Amino acid sequence: MIVAIDGPAATGKSTSAKLVAQKLGFTYMDTGAMYRCITLSVLRNRIELEDEKALKLLIQEMDIRFEKTNGTLVVRLNEEDVSTLIRKPEVTSYVSAVSALPQVREHMVNLQRQIAKDQDCVMEGRDIGTIVFPKAEYKFFLIADDTVRAKRRQLDLQAIGENKTIDELVEEIRRRDAFDSGRFHSPLRKADDAIEVDTSKLTIDEQVDFMVNRVKNH
Ligand code: DC
Repeated sequence: MIVAIDGPAATGKSTSAKLVAQKLGFTYMDTGAMYRCITLSVLRNRIELEDEKALKLLIQEMDIRFEKTNGTLVVRLNEEDVSTLIRKPEVTSYVSAVSALPQVREHMVNLQRQIAKDQDCVMEGRDIGTIVFPKAEYKFFLIADDTVRAKRRQLDLQAIGENKTIDELVEEIRRRDAFDSGRFHSPLRKADDAIEVDTSKLTIDEQVDFMVNRVKNH
């Protein structure tokens, strides 16, 4: 069974999707982390986004894994633990451009379908309910007020030693949403049959309970 949780940046997707998966006993998959991994590789190898050949090679050599260690999720890129690195501002500001490339999307979508093939998954992203699993049994689309989202992002960044003002973050979040929604290939969009959840005034527990109850009661 697939539970798809999509929505714009910093709407509480990761935190709540992780807990929803835990409560349902499903595997959690953070597809944004996958796009962040390839972005990190692109930056490290100074690959031009127009260089299709170099990108193809990079994709072929990339091995992304999720590992649960002491209750936390570790993201490994070719064995290396990149869980913190992929959240750095350099990666965040470039990830929308990298994830808009058709070559990148095609590979990631195949990989995501492959991983979810034989297991129940809570899959979090931008295009899960529309493109990756349009027939997902449950689809949620999370939204939240811009300032609330910026405050959440600020706390996430502080946890990894980065500081940005709320104004900077509101602008950054809006820019990324515009890019993710405006791209040609699988743009960020609410699936017609997704349930919209406004998380602006909800606690994490409330968001999680809402989604878990919905799944359990149907
Ligand atoms: O959820 P996140 O902020 O970690 O996602 C990072 C970027 O990856 C986001 O700006 C757009 C892209 N992304 C995507 O295009 N499709 C997905 N399914 C998940 C993320």
